[in-house]
Amino acid sequence: MKQFEGKVVLVTGGSRNTGLEIVDRFLREGAKVFFCGTTAESVEKGAAELKRRGLSGFTPVVCNVGDLKQVTAMMDVVEREARRLDVVVSNAANMGIGHGGPLEMTDEQFLSVLNVNILGGFRVVQAACNRFFMKQERDEFTDQRGAVVFVGSNSSERVSRKRLAYVTSKGGMDTMVKALGVDLGPLGVRVNMVAPGYIWSDRWNWLTDAIKERRHRNVPTGHEATGQDVAAAVLFLASPGARGFQGARLLMDGGSCAQLYPVDCEDDTSTMRER
Ligand SMILES: NC(=O)c1ccc[n+]([C@@H]2O[C@H](COP(=O)([O-])OP(=O)(O)OC[C@H]3O[C@@H](n4cnc5c(N)ncnc54)[C@H](OP(=O)(O)O)[C@@H]3O)[C@@H](O)[C@H]2O)c1
Repeated sequence: MKQFEGKVVLVTGGSRNTGLEIVDRFLREGAKVFFCGTTAESVEKGAAELKRRGLSGFTPVVCNVGDLKQVTAMMDVVEREARRLDVVVSNAANMGIGHGGPLEMTDEQFLSVLNVNILGGFRVVQAACNRFFMKQERDEFTDQRGAVVFVGSNSSERVSRKRLAYVTSKGGMDTMVKALGVDLGPLGVRVNMVAPGYIWSDRWNWLTDAIKERRHRNVPTGHEATGQDVAAAVLFLASPGARGFQGARLLMDGGSCAQLYPVDCEDDTSTMRER
């Protein structure tokens, strides 16, 4: 039997890149999957790609998680089509690119990032709990009613330059996952996070070979994660086998944050003699 057979999953930001791979993996494991993006064009493109891969059993929904009314409307679709929900993956993100540095950024720019990355995740989890999880029976094995997985980032502990709002939002998300985990655990809802480092996305096509090479040297494993790598970790945290995880942050960055300096910024001291 497939791992998520008979389960209903909602993935925000599932129209492309990492989110699309998360949708793909849940479908292959037998789930019925709802996914959203911000425009009809983006979700149709995502749906076309999934069909091209021979997948079915998904429903694309246009929803900006920055808008409560649109989140409510998305849950209406889930209720109408599936009548239950088992897993929420909060993956959608405003990347906060092009906002300049701390001296230039406006209130509106800062708030636009927090509104999607922090409040958007909160809105989706709250609606999932009130509309579905709280009304569902507890699972016999896990004693749980639902699971939530956030996609965070290693940039909440080692920040990127000129991404103030984005990295702050990911730091806030780290704490929100703990708070939701503590408050929702007794109610039978598991909340955890995968925190990736570099993930390959179509944005890597814009990078020069020199920058790609430099990024690889910043990762002890020598390469960025793929969307499939992130999806594997998300599926694990959503699965019954992860029933012991609550409010946890699973760092998945190929060892980037474990090191003090990237390899090419460090002397090889192994053959040096002390003076
Ligand atoms: N890429 C990386 O190197 C990296 C590293 C660490 C962590 N992450 C995290 O991993 C996740 C996925 O990253 P990614 O690079 O795959 O993202 P991406 O390529 O920028 O895709 C973002 C997805 O989120 C959707 N989205 C954006 N704003 C939204 C909103 N307001 N409401 C609903 N959906 C919205 C987009 O939909 P549209 O198609 O409609 O725009 C798209 O499906 C994010 O949480 C990101 O912070 C990424």
